[in-house]
Amino acid sequence: MAKLIPEILRFDSLPSTNLEAARRAIEGAAEGLCVVAGEQTAGRGRMQRRWVSPKDAGLYFSVVLRPCFEQSSWPLLTLMAAIAVHDALLDSCAVKTDIKWPNDILVGDKKLCGILAETVETSAGRAVVVGIGINLAKNSFSSEFDGIATSVEDAAGQKPGLDVVLKALVSSLDCYYQTLRQPGGPEEIVRGWSRRSSYCEGRRIRVLESNRSLVGTTRGLERDGALRVETDDGEMRIVRAGDVTVVRPLSV
Ligand code: BTN
Repeated sequence: MAKLIPEILRFDSLPSTNLEAARRAIEGAAEGLCVVAGEQTAGRGRMQRRWVSPKDAGLYFSVVLRPCFEQSSWPLLTLMAAIAVHDALLDSCAVKTDIKWPNDILVGDKKLCGILAETVETSAGRAVVVGIGINLAKNSFSSEFDGIATSVEDAAGQKPGLDVVLKALVSSLDCYYQTLRQPGGPEEIVRGWSRRSSYCEGRRIRVLESNRSLVGTTRGLERDGALRVETDDGEMRIVRAGDVTVVRPLSV
């Protein structure tokens, strides 16, 4: 299986590394092109949210992928990226993280990293841009993120060098992207994600989908990475997109 040959383009400032990577994919960039920025002025998050990206406070990274496998398995790309971030932070900073479905990287219940995969039509076929934002420095967010966001510096006691985290991230993305493309790879990614996530099994959660909300208990992942949720009346619901929050038991 061919390795990703990463080419890394660095910018002091960009509106969004995802937008820049998508633009270059349309221009014909090869699989493996990585874009890194020191800050983003219009960082994009899931569900049309913004991703606050202050200067030198985080790793703002996107990679162009051109997957050859069937599109029904493409949701696994974000799970693969979440595993890669999890392992990169453990290896480079000794920070142990949790993964909230589908791809929020947490320490405790605070978010340390977000992942946004976007498809882009190119003359060489449909490509995927996987964008990863890792909070590296503490105290770089306004008070609206108190209690919600955290950083590697908060978790490890010191701010890591960006290049140390970047090197570990590119290497683990390369490794798990290869895994995903191998026979049996999708199952391996689902198993790997499940091992690293406390949300996979037995967590009581609420899922906000585009036009409905459901409460239930998590019961693992489907083969394509969708989340199985058992509602209180015993129905198994399969969630393919949505925002997960923990439902805390009522205190008595
Ligand atoms: C989320 O909402 O959790 C996803 C956030 C993804 C943020 C990253 S930062 C690098 C890349 N460029 C963007 O504009 N967004 C992603």
